[in-house]
Amino acid sequence: MIDLHFVWQFFRHPTQVGTFTQSSKTLAKKMAEQIDGSLEVVELGAGTGAVTTEILKRLPQNGRLTCFEINPKFCRDLERINDPRLKVINDDAGNCERYVDNLDCIVSGLPLVWFTESKQQEILAITSKSKRYIQLQYTPLLGKKMRNYFSQVKLKFVPQNLPPAFIYVCKNSAR
Ligand SMILES: C[S@@+](CC[C@H](N)C(=O)[O-])C[C@H]1O[C@@H](n2cnc3c(N)ncnc32)[C@H](O)[C@@H]1O
Repeated sequence: MIDLHFVWQFFRHPTQVGTFTQSSKTLAKKMAEQIDGSLEVVELGAGTGAVTTEILKRLPQNGRLTCFEINPKFCRDLERINDPRLKVINDDAGNCERYVDNLDCIVSGLPLVWFTESKQQEILAITSKSKRYIQLQYTPLLGKKMRNYFSQVKLKFVPQNLPPAFIYVCKNSAR
């Protein structure tokens, strides 16, 4: 279902929000499944919480999810989720290491293709410190760049989303 609040924020900040509607249930579930039992999860660009709620369904009771979201209006939606395992931080994802020291598992909805080259490099340099990095995008063309940062990059296509989406599942075996 299209969330008009999300659409409005897209019209106000198109390159920051990156798409006109939040992730579909199917896409959010497929993203969240990739956390694969992780206890500490960091989510970058959590939006209104479509993926966040699916991660929480799969996160162990003693797990922790820290979300970074730059848009304060979206942060209010995230805070309404009201789960003791969830911490919402209204800051740029590029600053996440100021708040968390465990980056084992990162789930990201950041619209990387709209970022400048230097911002993309900043984010990928941070995420490449993780064991497992799950990135949502609407293009398969970032694979080559991702392979400069990760030893394993797998691409999953999810047609049940508007627009159809790709999930990059990246791992660094050395970590
Ligand atoms: C494509 S939306 C994804 C939202 C949500 N994860 C979903 O799947 O429905 C991208 C989100 O990243 C946020 N964002 C963009 N740049 C950011 C940054 N530098 N730091 C944190 N969040 C950012 C936007 O505000 C937006 O909520």
